[in-house]
Amino acid sequence: LSAPLVLGIESSCDETGVGIVRGTDLLVNAVASSMEEHVRFGGVIPEIASRAHLDAFVPTLEAALEEAGVKLADIDAIAVTSGPGLSGALMVGVAAAKSLALATGKPLYAINHLVAHVGVGVLDGGQLPEKLGALLVSGGHTEILQVNSLTDDVRLLGATIDDAAGEAYDKVARLLGLGYPGGPVIDALAKEGDPKAIRFPRGLTLPKFVGSAEEPGKHRHDFSFSGLKTAVARCVEQYQKRGEEVPVADIAASFQEAVVDVITSKAVRACKEHGIENLLLGGGVAANSRLRALLAARCASAGITLRVPPRELCTDNGAMVAALGAQLVAAGITPTGLGFSTDSGQP
Ligand code: KG4
Ligand code: ZN
Repeated sequence: LSAPLVLGIESSCDETGVGIVRGTDLLVNAVASSMEEHVRFGGVIPEIASRAHLDAFVPTLEAALEEAGVKLADIDAIAVTSGPGLSGALMVGVAAAKSLALATGKPLYAINHLVAHVGVGVLDGGQLPEKLGALLVSGGHTEILQVNSLTDDVRLLGATIDDAAGEAYDKVARLLGLGYPGGPVIDALAKEGDPKAIRFPRGLTLPKFVGSAEEPGKHRHDFSFSGLKTAVARCVEQYQKRGEEVPVADIAASFQEAVVDVITSKAVRACKEHGIENLLLGGGVAANSRLRALLAARCASAGITLRVPPRELCTDNGAMVAALGAQLVAAGITPTGLGFSTDSGQP
């Protein structure tokens, strides 16, 4: 019996992704992004993203099938992101997937986007370790997961209570006049600045939120970045009020240090307290050089093995949806069928 050939569809944000995998082998990962269309607004506009999915879906599907040398008839199953994400955007992918499933008679699986960010790990190094931790950081989400089984046991250990980490980068970049998306620009600029120049607040790190290992606070493993964004805004205002030049590189470096410090320390603490020895990093912010360096260092000193899939598998894509779909097929999980809706819920 050969490994299942699965088509995966992703449309939860601004990437239209169609991926095809055979078991844990990646055949194609076709992605069309509407990011350029959102640049002038400084963030993803849901309505524009939805329309872009509608335009991009069929060409992306055709390109993926051609590149993989696969016909729809050869596919064993279809998998599609059903949430969380922008609902209008999700609906385009879900409607497309249901139509394909209806027309071809292929089984259809509804996939949780966050779990797919973890499942993609099988395409980079094969089967995942049991009891895997996942740190997901992107423009739309920021979570720590404990994955006991990709197919039926995923727990949310912590999440942002306001902005996502990438969203904070984007908002701060806008504030500093650096354009969109902000992550890569701040990452580069921070290399020229002093990360200790300004001590920005570390969200949800006070004892009242964190508590202790024995008596964990409500937000022990959670994140908050909106206070940090406000602190950066105040800081910029003060320089402007005094008529002084704004030290953009120092602010970028100090902001980045605040984000990365809190993300890495909370992820490592969550792993230690839950007996997790393997951590996977995913999401668009996984490209951040400081995050990678500090997380690698802190994981190493805590005895945690860190896995970081290649960048194109960390950002939103269809291959991750196909990869998780293939795991579900291989585990003999019953297909979802056609009677599901989109949802913005958690795993
Ligand atoms: O996963 P992704 O492509 O899309 C979703 O948001 O789901 O992530 C995009 C986010 C943006 O907020 C962008 O600013 C951020 O990832 N990003 C980065 C870097 N590259 C992209 N943030 C920090 N440092 C980077 N090098
Ligand atoms: Zn994502």
